[in-house]
Amino acid sequence: MGPARARGLEGRVALVTGAGGSIGRGIARCLAEEGMALALADVSLAGAEAAAAEAEGRGGRAIALGLDVARADQCRSAVGETRARLGGLHAVVNNAGVIGGPDLKLGLPLSDLTEEDWDAAYEVNVKGVFLLCQAALPHLQAQRWGRIVNISSRAGRHGTPAIPHYSASKAAVIIFTQALAREAAPHGVTVNAVCPGLIWSPMWERLARLYEAKLPGLEGKSPREVFDHFVAQTPLRREQTPEDIGRAVAFLASEDARTITGQALLVDSGAVMY
Ligand SMILES: NC(=O)c1ccc[n+]([C@@H]2O[C@H](COP(=O)([O-])OP(=O)(O)OC[C@H]3O[C@@H](n4cnc5c(N)ncnc54)[C@H](O)[C@@H]3O)[C@@H](O)[C@H]2O)c1
Repeated sequence: MGPARARGLEGRVALVTGAGGSIGRGIARCLAEEGMALALADVSLAGAEAAAAEAEGRGGRAIALGLDVARADQCRSAVGETRARLGGLHAVVNNAGVIGGPDLKLGLPLSDLTEEDWDAAYEVNVKGVFLLCQAALPHLQAQRWGRIVNISSRAGRHGTPAIPHYSASKAAVIIFTQALAREAAPHGVTVNAVCPGLIWSPMWERLARLYEAKLPGLEGKSPREVFDHFVAQTPLRREQTPEDIGRAVAFLASEDARTITGQALLVDSGAVMY
């Protein structure tokens, strides 16, 4: 195999949220491979630091930031700190997300859904995306080049029972992506979403325990067996790795995707096709 073809990201700077989580780490690895300098942000500073150490260990340039995306002041500071410490900002990856609050319940039937889970999903998944985009957009537009990639979900393309609050929040991310894509397009900034399918992560492990207790046919299964049950229902019968999502993000951030905006790319083994 010859050398990788440069995709125009070498030396550019990306800010990734939720970078301490499973998918965030995969996104960081893929963007680092493209030669990007990384600001890795997470509400857990320890998680962000571990991700930054991993990126630096692989020869990349990375800084760790503590960031609660639901706080406007912290979003503004994260953008300022990224620019000050890494010399610019070219791509923002809104990956931070939650399935619900600390005491997650499944919303099946709907009468079991709690306001806490609804509010937690909207606070991080929707308001968090809005606030960081609002903080970063003036800068991206002023330099007349920028990339925003929002991590939605297959659940944002297909109403998903048991987690209707999460599904609705991820659909909101897609429509927000489209609205912002239209606003930002004349300024050289693209805005797209990636919709992951099934990635084994702490988020899924938590969800699987609840499914086991509530959904018929899953009784007695381990969290991993519950997860595999859902993977087996997808056309390709393959779970996604964090790097599967990271490569989609790298593509959308690259020059190769310069005429793609307002899209929601499913990376889900063909589970949703439209
Ligand atoms: N795992 C899946 O199968 C799957 C499928 C579809 C979409 N997603 C989406 O992918 C993204 C990453 O999920 P994951 O599976 O890696 O989950 P994860 O729980 O491993 O990681 C999520 C990260 O976000 C951070 N976070 C939570 N609230 C935050 C806040 N307010 N501010 C900043 N950071 C915050 C957490 O600390 C954690 O490090 C999420 O948006 C999730 O909804 C995941």
